Formats: sequence, C-alpha cells, structure tokens
Amino acid sequence: MPVLRSSVDPNSDEYKANFDHMAGLVERLREELTKAREDRSDRARARNAELGKLTVSERLDRVLDRNAPFLEIAPLAAWNMYDGRIHGAGSRAGIGVIQGREVLVSANDPMIKGGTIYPMGVKKTLRCQTIVMENRLPAVTLVDSGGAYLPMQSEIFPDIDDGGRVFYNQAIISKMNIPQITAVMGLCTAGGAYIPAMSDHVVHVKGTGAIFLGGPPLVKAATGEEVTAEELGGARLHCAESGVSDYFAEDDAMACDIIREIVANLPPQRKAEVARRAPVDPLYDPKEIWGVVPRSLSTPYDIREVMARLVDGSELLEFKRMYGPTLVCGWAHIHGYQVGILGNNGVLFSESALKATHFIQLCDRQGIPLVFLQNISGYIIGREYERAGITKDGHKMVAAVATATVPKLTVMCGQSFGAGNYGMCGRAYSPRFLWTWPNAQIGVMGAEEAAKVLITVKNDQLAREGQPPLPPEMEELIRGPVREAGEKEGNAYYSTANLWDDGIIDPAKTRDVLGLALSAALNAPLDQRDQGHATFRM
Ligand code: COA
Repeated sequence: MPVLRSSVDPNSDEYKANFDHMAGLVERLREELTKAREDRSDRARARNAELGKLTVSERLDRVLDRNAPFLEIAPLAAWNMYDGRIHGAGSRAGIGVIQGREVLVSANDPMIKGGTIYPMGVKKTLRCQTIVMENRLPAVTLVDSGGAYLPMQSEIFPDIDDGGRVFYNQAIISKMNIPQITAVMGLCTAGGAYIPAMSDHVVHVKGTGAIFLGGPPLVKAATGEEVTAEELGGARLHCAESGVSDYFAEDDAMACDIIREIVANLPPQRKAEVARRAPVDPLYDPKEIWGVVPRSLSTPYDIREVMARLVDGSELLEFKRMYGPTLVCGWAHIHGYQVGILGNNGVLFSESALKATHFIQLCDRQGIPLVFLQNISGYIIGREYERAGITKDGHKMVAAVATATVPKLTVMCGQSFGAGNYGMCGRAYSPRFLWTWPNAQIGVMGAEEAAKVLITVKNDQLAREGQPPLPPEMEELIRGPVREAGEKEGNAYYSTANLWDDGIIDPAKTRDVLGLALSAALNAPLDQRDQGHATFRM
C-alpha cells in the first residue's frame, strides 16, 4: 500500500504554536470531564454513603472487566444547562466490556438531583438505545432515579422523542433479540418502573432498590395506606411475591457480580466479518495532530497529514487522487480494520461530490466501514457552479451517504458548515458514532457570513423602499447578536451539551476511539447491504 509522507516540520514555530494551542483545548476538555465526574455536593455524597450505595464510578468499575477500554458516550451532555450541575445529563453511559463481551452500560447518578431525568437525560437514554439497536449491543442499565424531574415534566413526557419512547424502544429491542439487563439499585418510580419490567433480566438490591407505579407518598395521598418503600416495592416483594424481579442481591456489589454472570451466560456473539489484518501503528505519532491542525479554522491544511497519524502504517490507497482534489478518499486500515476514509481538503466541488458518491457506493457494496473526517465550509457556490449542476452533484453525495448501510463513523475535525455537514455524514445522516474535536465549529454558515447575508437582505429591502443602505452602526446592531450566537452555539461544547455528538475527544485519541467504535459496530451484521439506493439526479 502507498505510504503517506508528512511534510510537517515538528520543529517549526508554526507547528509549536499549533501544538500549544491544541494542548490548551485538550487540557480544558480534561478539566471539564473531571468536573462532570466528580462535582457532587457533600450532602449528596453523605446521603449515598449513608444508604450503603456504591457511587456510579464504583458501580461501573465493579460491573465492567478490569483493564478493558470504556468508550464513554456523551459525558458532557447538558453541559452548562439547567443549573450547570446536571453533569452528563445525570447519568454515565458507554460501551464497555463484561466477561469479554462488548455491552452498552448506562447508569443514573443518584448524587445528581436524586438521579432524576431532565429533558437532555431522556435524549441521552434514547441515543444509547439507538446505539444498542444499530450495533446490536446488549444493554445493561443500573437504575437509581427519582424519575421525571418534575419541574420540567411537560418537556419529558408525551412526545415521540420523550420519555415514553424509552419503554417503546425497550419492546423493540427485545423483539430484535438484543438482551436487556437491569439492576434496580434505587428507585424505579411510575414510568421508571417499566425500565426493569421491560427488561429480560432484573437484578434487585435489597434495602435501596424499589419498583412501584406510585411511591409511598402518592399511595398515602390516594388511598390512605401507609407503607415503606421496601414494603411497597422492595427486593423481597418483587423477587418472592410479584415476580417482577429475577435475582435478589444483598447490595450493589453483589448486583454487579450477578450482572456479570448473566452476561457470561448469554449466547456467544458472532461479529460481522470485515477485512482485517494485523494492526500496526501509524508511522507518525497521533499526538502530532496537535501541531498539524492550524489554530485558525480558516487556515487550510492537508487532511492527509491527519490521516497519516490515524491509519495503520500511515498507508492509504488513494482513490481518484487527481480528480476532485478537495476531497481525499482512500482505503486504509485502523487498528487492523479495513475502512474507506473521506477527508475534506477544501470546499466541495462537483468533481469532489461525484468522487465521494462513487467511493461511498464502492465501500457500501464491499462491506467496508466508512470514516468521515469533516473540515468543511460547504459546497461551492456561484453562477458558474450552479450552471454546471453543483446542486445535483451535491445531492448524489448526500443521497449516497444517507443510504449507505455499512457502519459510518464521523469525526468533526474543524469546520462543519451548511450542506457540507450533511454530505460528510453529520448527525442527521445516522453515523453509528460521531465525535467532535475541541476546536470544531458547527453551523448553517459561519457567523460573519450569516451577518453579511442578513445585512444584504436588509439593504435590498431598504433599496426597494427607496431608502439609503444601513449606516455602519446599524450594521453592527445586526452583526453583534449573530456573531454572539455563532460563538455561543457553534462551538464543540454547545454541540456536545445538546447531544449532537457522542462526545468531545482529544484529537490524539481519535485513532483509538475509531478502533473501539469499529469493534462495537461489528456486533451488528452487515446483511442490510445492497438494498438499493436513492434515485441519482443526472
Ligand atoms: N423531581 C425533581 N426533583 C427531585 C425529584 C423529582 N422527581 N426527586 C428528587 N428530587 C430532588 C430533591 O428535591 C433533592 O433536591 P436538592 O438536592 O436540591 O435538595 C434531590 O433531588 C435529592 O433528593 P433527596 O430526597 O434529598 O435524596 P434521597 O437520596 O434521599 O432520595 C429519591 C432520592 C429519588 C429516592 C427521593 O428524592 C424521592 O423519592 N423522590 C421522588 C420520586 C418520585 O416520586 N418521582 C415521581 C416522578 S415520575
């Protein structure tokens, strides 16, 4: 295979300045992740200990295989939302390994507002269920939640993508023959009672775990009956009398051990077969990506420099290298898995879009997972390009991306603007996983461009009315708020807070994250291939 040769000089001032800039962004990411994991009130910590519970991190440590990787999903969901302390939207979730088997584990954090479910918490749960369904991963859920966060109940309850969908999905997941294992380690109240009820296996912890449709206060208010939570829905009642739960656990640790036994007893998983070879490291250290990526998003750089630090042996068999050069496409391996990789090297022209369409079709037919490296300001605009049919060529690429059924993985490496976001497999194009670098920006267009469009529209309107154009200070009144919104809403943290991605990652870890994601994706068969494609407008 041809080898990518880097022309970046790690001793140059430019490289060093880029490196330091990215180091700062990664340090901030590390701080935010630590805060999300550890920022809990003393009162909540004391209460957890008083009840004899493990913390969420201890539960995850106990249930997952030691020294196995944990690919955390959306650890910064709800970042800076609500009171700024609903870290991870109130839960931790990720793909981990139990008894050698990849599973998706999710766990409410009772030390964050009693583990209650905020709107972003529902969104995170639904995202986890999508991952379970698309990748056929057994679902392990550690429930410890006060249920709906009642002050926001109207935002979490009735709509198609609200709380009810979680239980609907559980039925669908069951029908798909994907195992669901739930440990009741705290409250499962009202709708929450259906999480264990709709699972295949329910482990129930004595003393702290309780399942009921109405808790003791509601029962007292409605019927006058006075009962404790343990009497109403505790482990003994549900394991010995009602049959709602299947396995009795003395404490959290025992519940985790039982889950591990249940997973060990699942039928063996046959992973999809894709072309593999022995993994080899890239020729260049992935950490050099810090120095490769320019500090300013508008400074162009060769995406091959990133690819050289992601793929095995830095080997890339480039497809149509001389045609449509603003998109680099080629075959490579990541941790031994063959992939088709696409990366932006500038604006998308008709030729680049046609090349992408051809390449994606080939990968889809050959069962080769696709990796998209997004750094895209959009498709080319202007009369000449419209006349040449950029819209219909862009459509072909977007349609090919949408209908490809092989696993698709996307990394936001810089800009992600306009239809470029779609063509390069943005969130709406159902990549199996999507990760964001801390320097990334996402939007319909850049804030400056958006402001210019609005000012032009206003001036055209004034001209129609026979009035002079806006003076500079009025232009600024339009530009200011657009720029402010762009800065606030276009950055990686806003994206991850809203679950537009599965997490912000250190660019240096991209290779490993992609490797783990590919491994997880292959739990689902590739048998949905060749089910036709959209009509291509010629
Ligand atoms: N909505 C909003 N806030 C809730 C809540 C809910 N459903 N359940 C708990 N909280 C809040 C509490 O007000 C408290 O907030 P604070 O820290 O700002 O004071 C925090 O969560 C922790 O609750 P607390 O009762 O102090 O902790 P705990 O560990 O002793 O008990 C629960 C946790 C969840 C068992 C208990 O709060 C409870 O029973 N909640 C109500 C559950 C319920 O009936 N839900 C029905 C919704 S479907």
